[in-house]
Amino acid sequence: MGRLRHFIQPQDFTIEEFESLFRLANDILSNPSNYSHCCDGKILASLFFEPSTRTRLSFETAMNRLGGRVIGFADPAASSTTKGESLGDTLRTVEGYADIGVIRHPKEGAAHLATKYLTTMPIINAGDGGHQHPTQTLTDLITIRRFHQRLEGLKIGFCGDLKFGRTVHSLIRALKRYPNNQFVLISPEELQLPEYMQNEIKETNYCEEEDLSEVIEDLDILYMTRVQKERFVSEAEYERLKDFYILNEEKMKLAKEDMIVMHPLPRVNEISQDLDSDPRCVYFKQAKLGMYGRMALIMKLLEVEI
Ligand code: CP
Repeated sequence: MGRLRHFIQPQDFTIEEFESLFRLANDILSNPSNYSHCCDGKILASLFFEPSTRTRLSFETAMNRLGGRVIGFADPAASSTTKGESLGDTLRTVEGYADIGVIRHPKEGAAHLATKYLTTMPIINAGDGGHQHPTQTLTDLITIRRFHQRLEGLKIGFCGDLKFGRTVHSLIRALKRYPNNQFVLISPEELQLPEYMQNEIKETNYCEEEDLSEVIEDLDILYMTRVQKERFVSEAEYERLKDFYILNEEKMKLAKEDMIVMHPLPRVNEISQDLDSDPRCVYFKQAKLGMYGRMALIMKLLEVEI
């Protein structure tokens, strides 16, 4: 096995490496039976210190579909964390059992910290607090390529909770590497993109806007996000902001015929369910595509070939 690689943030892979993941994910999607034994004998540790539906289940399904097996926990209350065990001790222990790990943790930087304890097991960041969510980005890039056939020259509106929305932070980091993309950051003042992220896109073509209706007509992609209740200190503040944006039929009438609406999910109120049958709303397809991306990612980090 070559140098131990982890996937903590989008920049951990080059654009060329992402391209090879896209090709592999596409081939897995077209020829799944070719891959059904390529991780025979391998074990994935699924370490979820925070709730998840899509990320956890798609990783676990991904490993099962590759012929491997899964251990882990979906709730830290069922682990020895409750007895006071440190993250480092948990990881050193799990490394003795598994070939690859996936970690979601409420603390920003936890996945990066995890890499400090590991010597043989690649680890994948499945979301660290309000910071990064790179495998959602892999999912998102695969989705954008499928519906727009390119990752450059796109006008992308990010709408909602840009402060705590880690999927937005990771996707911006990935898309700013491609030429001629424009970002429209649509949020109330309280939920604007954090300063460290704004600094990262200083050289990029971006603007901030509060009114979605004012900007929707020019977008190629509208990336809606949930207001992240679990990251708010004040419940009253969350209640005040949670329904700031609701995408409905009236607003969608203003959008282009080929604009796509993406959402990392879960959705709360920010997209009306009436829109689910609109072919431009691709969020459930997006969630499914993520499984193929994660299959490709597991293969890459385990250096498995068919
Ligand atoms: N998109 C996403 O991370 O969803 P889950 O929280 O359900 O994993």
